[in-house]
Amino acid sequence: VFAGIAGLIAVCLPGAAQAVCDPGELTIKFSHVVAEKGHPKGEMAAALAARINTEMNGSACMEVYPSSELYDDDAVMEALLLGEVQIAAPSISKLEDYTLKYRLFDLPFLFSDMQAVNVFIESEIGNSLLNEMSDYGFVGIGYMLNGLKQFSANKVLEIPKDAEGLAFRVQTSDVAVSMIETLNARPVKLPFKDVFYSLETGLVDGQENTWSNIYTQRLFTVQDGVLETNHQLLIYLAVVSQEWLEGLDPAIRATFLKIFKEVSGAYNARAMEINAESRSKIIRFGGVVRGLTPVQRKEWVSAMAPVWAKYQDQIGLDVIEAAVNSNA
Ligand code: LMR
Repeated sequence: VFAGIAGLIAVCLPGAAQAVCDPGELTIKFSHVVAEKGHPKGEMAAALAARINTEMNGSACMEVYPSSELYDDDAVMEALLLGEVQIAAPSISKLEDYTLKYRLFDLPFLFSDMQAVNVFIESEIGNSLLNEMSDYGFVGIGYMLNGLKQFSANKVLEIPKDAEGLAFRVQTSDVAVSMIETLNARPVKLPFKDVFYSLETGLVDGQENTWSNIYTQRLFTVQDGVLETNHQLLIYLAVVSQEWLEGLDPAIRATFLKIFKEVSGAYNARAMEINAESRSKIIRFGGVVRGLTPVQRKEWVSAMAPVWAKYQDQIGLDVIEAAVNSNA
């Protein structure tokens, strides 16, 4: 009996984020896959919950479920439609079942820095892309930034040739698959929660992710080193179900959206800093970080250039041009 109760408690109380909602309050569950602390998305979700739980106390409350505790990024989309959770923020790269337009954000070396990303998401085209999934009953309520990605492997990486023959974990994104294939390497789509284990056991040799993901998942501890390529963006779409959003009391909806906008704006502005801190911590904890010379960088850019040609028709040249023009 005791074992049974203990098991039940463990299942019902997976984290400290629960049990804040009072009877009668609208419960808003936010499910995500990353660490709660030291991560742009994890910290943004926690800050959002803190504000909602203070400012909307009595009418609404938010529970955050981090670290794939409830759902991975594929399952969470269905959970939104079923009303099991109310908000999710998957990497845009993983939304290709719903629209091919978001492949834009995966084009390698599209944005030269996060400043350019900010310019683009604030633009008219950037803003209109939020609504690409309405046919499926989803509303994008805003973008949440992480940062640019870096490569790591269990051997020294400096030039594209070094990646040949290696297996790299990628997100569930065909653009990422193509990108790894241009390196004559082998892409393996895996959920985020399996990355550390897959690197540790040698199921894959390498991976690509932002500093904050590489640090908070301790990926650098099972890799030879990290190569600072900044080759691709990791950006999230904060997504809710249209039915849920439209069904809200108008005053509650307006307050929720206002708080969301303020908190995501503040954390988008902090995302670069959080990633820079993660980079420093990786070095402090003994991780190896290698930079690229301008010549090496050119080699990576040209190795991955064929990916653009493959996807440009699906994305639309006008959209690509707008994104390119966001670079200073
Ligand atoms: C990944 O799967 O690598 C990322 O999308 C995880 C995340 O949410 O940052």
